[in-house]
Amino acid sequence: MPHKVALSRLKLTDFRNYVSASLALDGRHVVLTGDNGAGKTNLMEAVSFLSPGRGMRRAAYGDITRVGAAGGFSIFAELDGMEGDVEIGTGIDTSDEATARRLRINGTTARTVDELTDHLRVLWLTPAMDGLFTGGSSDRRRFLDRLVLSLDPEHGRRASDFERAMRSRNKLLDESRFDPSWLSGIEEQMASLGIAMALARQEMLGLLTRLIEESRETSPFPSASLQLSGFMDGQFSRPSVDLEDEYAATLAANRYRDSGAGRTLEGPHRADLIVHHREKQMEAARCSTGEQKALLVGLVLAHARLVGNLTDHAPILLLDEIAAHLDEGRRAALFDLIDGLGGQAFMTGTDQQMFAALGERAQFFTVADGRVFE
Ligand SMILES: Nc1ncnc2c1ncn2[C@@H]1O[C@H](COP(=O)(O)OP(=O)(O)O)[C@@H](O)[C@H]1O
Ligand SMILES: [Mg+2]
Repeated sequence: MPHKVALSRLKLTDFRNYVSASLALDGRHVVLTGDNGAGKTNLMEAVSFLSPGRGMRRAAYGDITRVGAAGGFSIFAELDGMEGDVEIGTGIDTSDEATARRLRINGTTARTVDELTDHLRVLWLTPAMDGLFTGGSSDRRRFLDRLVLSLDPEHGRRASDFERAMRSRNKLLDESRFDPSWLSGIEEQMASLGIAMALARQEMLGLLTRLIEESRETSPFPSASLQLSGFMDGQFSRPSVDLEDEYAATLAANRYRDSGAGRTLEGPHRADLIVHHREKQMEAARCSTGEQKALLVGLVLAHARLVGNLTDHAPILLLDEIAAHLDEGRRAALFDLIDGLGGQAFMTGTDQQMFAALGERAQFFTVADGRVFE
């Protein structure tokens, strides 16, 4: 079993509908119940800021600061993390011009938000992800990239460097500046970054597939089969230098076409994650709503197990309204599975009774109008 990472204190100031809130946590799972609009998801969103990025809603910082607050928002957490006890403070101060989120770890300003991954990993599943299989490919790419990022923090930099190089290429093509050596330099950079991105995604799918395979018998959820499609399909066993050369050559050969299209038509930015319901041999997008949800839950929990196995520390899980559409038996099985991952999970719902099967394994809080009571 991986080590447990657990929050012991969470404090919010001017965060969404909270003027201020402070929760003392004892390391068990955390159940948050209350009416719609009470602030349950907001609390989880605050925890999601203990990982790099813009949180589980990908919100603009201006939307997060409480309406009517004078400055910005802040989040403070104490936890037993991957490197022992740690205090993390993060937030935005609107009184200065900084657009980036501030981060302090044990009182010292952190160089980048990536430093958070030294102390904990935070994974989430929210109702907003319910349409993942039926929606556009960009959401699935982002989902996949988050899976990769949780184990390989470099992935984010590769992706943003690739984007930047691609924008330069598109701009040169748009201005009809076909200076071959200049373009070639950019395309070679795109090739090395793009292939590295694709390989990292492929590796993640391989690891997940193996783990899903192993836990198939015991999982109460349908198992997913996972494939990358749309870029270098089926070629990832070839040496990466060959793939880079091939992609660079493709880019060079398609300058006129891409110039006409106004964008780069081939690359890792066009890839898609294709998921099948394994037992049914059915593409996830064609499964019922309930089956899709079950597939997604199974996938996210498999990923959580993978992160626990590979980092030797169980991730913090944020499971928003996860129990809503499950019958009692399935719910109890789900709680056992979550508990078996060895980490601290945050769960929300409207009704405390839904979480009865967790019993002593969870701490229960009621949320009402931006206030929290145990
Ligand atoms: N920046 C903000 N300032 C004040 N209230 C906000 C802000 N952002 C969201 N809210 C309020 O937070 C509430 C939603 O909270 P949420 O956590 O999503 O509810 P739920 O308990 O249903 O999960 C809404 O009433 C919304 O208006
Ligand atoms: Mg909610």
